[in-house]
Amino acid sequence: MIGQTPPMGWNSWPMFGEDVNEEVIMQVADAFVEYGLKDAGYEYIVIDDCWSLRERDKNKRLVPDPQKFPSGMKALSDYVHSKGLKLGIYSCAGVQTCAGYPGSLEHEFIDANTFAEWGIDYLKYVYCYKPRSLDGKILYRRMAMALRNCGRDILLSTCNWGWDEPSTWMRSAGAHTWRSTGDIQDNWNSVKSITLSLLGHECYSAPYCFHDNDYLVVGMYGKGNIALGGCTDDEYKTQFSLWCMMNSPLMIGCDVRNMNEATRTILMNKDLIAINQDFEGRQAYTVNDWISDDLLYYVKILSNGDFAIALVNFGERRARAHFQFWDLGLPMAAGYGLQLTDLWTKEDLGVETAFYRTMLDPHCCQVLRAKVVKL
Ligand code: GLA
Repeated sequence: MIGQTPPMGWNSWPMFGEDVNEEVIMQVADAFVEYGLKDAGYEYIVIDDCWSLRERDKNKRLVPDPQKFPSGMKALSDYVHSKGLKLGIYSCAGVQTCAGYPGSLEHEFIDANTFAEWGIDYLKYVYCYKPRSLDGKILYRRMAMALRNCGRDILLSTCNWGWDEPSTWMRSAGAHTWRSTGDIQDNWNSVKSITLSLLGHECYSAPYCFHDNDYLVVGMYGKGNIALGGCTDDEYKTQFSLWCMMNSPLMIGCDVRNMNEATRTILMNKDLIAINQDFEGRQAYTVNDWISDDLLYYVKILSNGDFAIALVNFGERRARAHFQFWDLGLPMAAGYGLQLTDLWTKEDLGVETAFYRTMLDPHCCQVLRAKVVKL
């Protein structure tokens, strides 16, 4: 079954935009293997918008641009599959894609079958040029039906930026992931505003259909197609921590062929990935802070009885985080404590019985794994 846990992979749009081509995709597949991304769980390599010609062929089929994909999509998927990875592609529920290439409206079944013939494993399906008079739900149901009957497992990753309240119907329409926010940019304000806008809506996201917070901008450093400013490594760590805590798909945006050490360490933090991929897919809950509005305490129940606790400073000043175990249900006199491990430094922080306190720099976070132990 596909989509039981959040998909992990890479997407061409953040770094390459319309300059995507088969050479880049093959090199990304090579880099996945060479630098350990594949072993860490990253699997899907997704070609975003701008891969086709501007017109369909005489049989109404989409045609890959021969300048960008001279070997064709089947040869490319064979290559990606030979590395033990999967290939994704992009289309729109409307008449055109966002960049003006043919969309799949009224061609859903032809396109799903074409993608299956090409060996595609993932479809990102966006909402551009969707006629207002048509019900978006029907269009997503239609593509989901076409994909589920094309003879191949193809994950349906939808994106309509929150129009028409997709959180309430994308799962029933047959999608595996959905986006409900505008496009992310490679800067702190964008990461922060997407995160804060999603708090309180977590309950819609669960196994087989997860909310997609959009790309990981980790390692972009202000370069590429969606790069507006860049972030610090601490901010990238915070984005990665939050996306893991929120069970978002982990779709890398940076140029994985040229990652520095800091980027690799962030993207391949196995302890954080384990939280993202925890098979129960339970959503985190927030705990109010009594010291500062800028601090977020976020708690996620894990399937083995442990908890993941993220302490995040969204503010502009160094702040003291003070997290009380009472807030996750542990009464002080219960005779239990929490054995804490810092998932970034790997430090064993020992057993605490009532609270955990630490200082957090602006935009920084700490993520703990807490094991419940008898005292
Ligand atoms: C939409 C999506 C982006 C990207 C572009 C490509 O805007 O939200 O993530 O895929 O389409 O045109």
